[in-house]
Amino acid sequence: MPFPKEFHFGVCSAAYQVEGAIHEGDKLPSIWDVYSHTPGKIKNGENGDIAIDFYHRYKEDIVLAKELGVDTFRFSLAWTRLVKQDGSTNEAGVKFYRQVLEEIHRQGLRPVITLYHWDLPQYLEDRGGWKERNIIDDFLTYVRVAKENFLDLCQDYLTFNEPQCFLYLGYQNLGHAPGKVYTFEEMMRAAHNVLMCHFKAQRLLEEGHPEVHVGFVNTMNGVIPEDDSVALWEEIKKHFFATPKTAQDFYTQSIYMDPLYLHHYPKEVEEYMEEHHILQPGDLDLIRNGKEDTVYLNLYTANHCYVDKKGLYHSERRPTKENQGFLEWLIKEPETLYYTPKLIQERYHLPIVISENGDAVEDILTPDGHIHDPRRSEYLLSYLGEMEKAIQDGVDIRGYFYWSLCDNFEWAEGFGPRFGLVYIDYKNGLKRIKKDSFTSYQTFIKEHH
Ligand code: BGC
Repeated sequence: MPFPKEFHFGVCSAAYQVEGAIHEGDKLPSIWDVYSHTPGKIKNGENGDIAIDFYHRYKEDIVLAKELGVDTFRFSLAWTRLVKQDGSTNEAGVKFYRQVLEEIHRQGLRPVITLYHWDLPQYLEDRGGWKERNIIDDFLTYVRVAKENFLDLCQDYLTFNEPQCFLYLGYQNLGHAPGKVYTFEEMMRAAHNVLMCHFKAQRLLEEGHPEVHVGFVNTMNGVIPEDDSVALWEEIKKHFFATPKTAQDFYTQSIYMDPLYLHHYPKEVEEYMEEHHILQPGDLDLIRNGKEDTVYLNLYTANHCYVDKKGLYHSERRPTKENQGFLEWLIKEPETLYYTPKLIQERYHLPIVISENGDAVEDILTPDGHIHDPRRSEYLLSYLGEMEKAIQDGVDIRGYFYWSLCDNFEWAEGFGPRFGLVYIDYKNGLKRIKKDSFTSYQTFIKEHH
């Protein structure tokens, strides 16, 4: 089946995971630069100082994306390359990203910029990080730099990648930078500040530029119902969209997604924020007037959901020998891309883009220099197949981005987990080698466009 005309196929990456060159272009340290150099934080003491050297090799990688056949190249800017501590613009950073954007266009691809993929300037973390209201001004200073310098070359922006991850894992000390512990109230403040940054950035970028489009990227463990009953589906919705009750509950949905796509907080969240003076005049108006027209979802896996004989609801991982991936949470569940977009569309009634999906596999370089990775191809094609089924059943999905074009620095896990369609030979000058799965995705795109 050919996909809808406006359907986009893409690949994605994030600055800290690929760029390296941390001492070039007057880059300031981010929380990941500091965290990765803190003993014991990253597997095998690895860090992103060099990463895969996208900073110097972006041309090669963009040409590979072109060869793959995708039409969209999603990547992130490093805030710490673009804004100096006094708020002025770092021209070296502007120059670098303009060159990247120009190359993306030269290859006939469409760029999508993620503004925040987890690399907060360390000086802002030292001031208290996301829980402090004044972070909004700093974020807007950064967004202004993007607006002034990149709007002619890029019209599609995603403000935040996965607050579900960077707030929860980073501020409940669960293995991500900055490794702090916020209280429940601080988590609420941080979530609200992130949303305020988003809405204000959206206004700023879109003002006077009807061609500019600004979205927000969510992530979640998807759902797979054990049966097709309406009762179970309703139960799933109730639990899936429940609001956080403790600081450990911030890997959650409605606190971010309801304000974005329904234009209001869940009632009890709004009440809490009122009581704790988190809301300031004008905040709810910003939320009411938000302009979201697409829901972006990073989806890798799902939980199986059922109600037991005693009427208790369960949502659980089902790892088996066959579906267990390279990382503990990474369980191959292709139906993730069938049921989850359906669930999201029923609540928010907006088109959906799968902004990330991918598999990490232990790739083994053959003596003649190849990577045969049938498991990754099988993952990719089975997920795409389920997504196709969802589209046939009326779910309005407009795009799919594979994570990631190349192997890269997988945060606390270091370089071990390889998500790329292109192998990086870390022992051999970061040589790029196309894996078999590169061809699988390439063929799928050809057949469906
Ligand atoms: C993140 C990526 C990460 C990928 C695989 C996503 O949650 O956006 O940065 O590498 O998952 O773990």
